[in-house]
Amino acid sequence: MVGLLLVTSTTPPSLPGLQMTPVHPRDRADAPWWRQAVIYQIYPRSFADSTGDGIGDLPGARAKLPYLAALGVDAVWFSPFYVSPQADAGYDVADYRDIDPLFGTLADFQDLLDDATGLGIKVIVDLVPNHSSSEHPWFTAALAAAPGSPERARYLFRDGRGEDGELPPNDWKSVFGGPGWTRVVEADGRPGQWYLHLFDVTQPDFDWTNPDVRQEFLDVIDFWVKRGVAGFRVDVAAGLVKDQTFRDWGYTHDQPGPDDERLATAKAPMWDQDGVHEIYQVWRSLLDGYGPPDRILCAEAWVHPPERAALYIRSTEFHQAFNFDFLDCPWRAADYRRVIATSLEVCDSVGAPATWVLSNHDVVRHASRFGLPVGTPRPNGIGADDPQPDAELGLRRARAAAMLMLGLGGSAYLYQGEELGLPEATALPDDLRQDPVYIRTDKRQLGRDGCRVPMPWVANAPGLGFGPSARTWLPQPDTFADLAADVQEGVAGSTLELYRTLLQIRRERELGLGGLVLVDGYGEEVLALVNTGRDDADPTLVLVNFGSDPVSLPPGATVLVASGDLSDGAVPADTAVWARLAG
Ligand code: NOJ
Repeated sequence: MVGLLLVTSTTPPSLPGLQMTPVHPRDRADAPWWRQAVIYQIYPRSFADSTGDGIGDLPGARAKLPYLAALGVDAVWFSPFYVSPQADAGYDVADYRDIDPLFGTLADFQDLLDDATGLGIKVIVDLVPNHSSSEHPWFTAALAAAPGSPERARYLFRDGRGEDGELPPNDWKSVFGGPGWTRVVEADGRPGQWYLHLFDVTQPDFDWTNPDVRQEFLDVIDFWVKRGVAGFRVDVAAGLVKDQTFRDWGYTHDQPGPDDERLATAKAPMWDQDGVHEIYQVWRSLLDGYGPPDRILCAEAWVHPPERAALYIRSTEFHQAFNFDFLDCPWRAADYRRVIATSLEVCDSVGAPATWVLSNHDVVRHASRFGLPVGTPRPNGIGADDPQPDAELGLRRARAAAMLMLGLGGSAYLYQGEELGLPEATALPDDLRQDPVYIRTDKRQLGRDGCRVPMPWVANAPGLGFGPSARTWLPQPDTFADLAADVQEGVAGSTLELYRTLLQIRRERELGLGGLVLVDGYGEEVLALVNTGRDDADPTLVLVNFGSDPVSLPPGATVLVASGDLSDGAVPADTAVWARLAG
């Protein structure tokens, strides 16, 4: 037993020679499920295929639910599976109330949801309210209708500038590169109005000042709640309302550096306008009105500064928002310390749980990001001609990062395949790339295909067991065979078993609800914190060594799990441990 004294979650434990700073109180014991949930993102086209067409689908995902139950996740979030021409892999929705035949049917969805419920897994779906597909019946009707018609008023059609309206209405660009406006041909065959698309030309932005649009999404939410979903991940949550002056902005959307004035997104006329909050307040009332259990809203909102981001997660709006600062944090103890402390402060200021995330379908997988030199800005894809990540170093750090993330209180989002330690596919043939980003940036940015490669389930099967045939919509890198789920299953020390162990301990010790105390005294290159978990008298030390010298644990500490081998009981470089401090 070390010299440890904990009275309440806000009273720091004492460890000899170390300084303890409480940064977050323990959550209440009756906290609803989502305040500590581990939510697993399924990217349907790349998760599991049941038909052999090389594209994942709902029956394929359903067959993998026992795997997810064994992993120990609380919920799954499905990226869009709705009817869609797939111009942006389903984030271009043509029918919000039906499943694309690529992925199955509504009956398949219901079967999946019923099975998931039986296994204790909740199902969250993606809602894409900023834009529809250009093949959505509303948009085809808008194209067929005249300027000024009610059909056009559901989208953002505007007359062009210049003598004949030949110039776009303003200088806004597409997030995917290229212009943000496209000119249409009117019924008389002449070039006419322009419509706004903050993303691809096939993704026209809705006009959220229009009551039809507002009502439509209330109905869509109701449709999916009645089918039993546990919540919605809301795409482009900060973009729905535009500055109604439609003034020029002067910027493009390429990734801003840390000092970029665009980070004050309040200045951007298309992001984070105050008017978005009213929409989400109505959605929250609708969801709360269904009664228990809670259905959640999670915001995809790249909003700065943190005070602005906090507005989205007030108790009258979203339950959660993705923590992209954590995702983008460089592999340095001081940076994580800062991001974690700020995230907790911001979330606590509005009573929301913090969330943590390392990867998703839009970013280079973290096992590869961590293998790039520390401080490298996050690339939009990695190609064969680019400097290659150090795979071994990246995986070592990825495992340690997962331990840090899952050792924090709040909710955590996992991206399919990270539990296998999958790296980015960095040698995809360019002619197979499908991300519209690649084309719209004239191939300057490779885009997101490299993190969307189909999952490897069985090392010795065609297509690595992705489906019943050898087909996979993107080729899997050779290295995926060694990382296939069946190779890792039951193998002590594998990344899959590490994740299973972490989720099990996290659940048993209730780390998701725990209070957090930062521990100083190990030096600049170590991040240590105590998670008070379920039991003040038996807290968990989470320690990550970002430096090169091994770090000794406090006397009497008992290691629960480590991300790598310990050297004589000490924690080596790029390694994390969870340890009990009580005897
Ligand atoms: C964010 C989604 O995560 C991304 O995949 C998509 O391309 C854009 N929003 C546009 O919907």
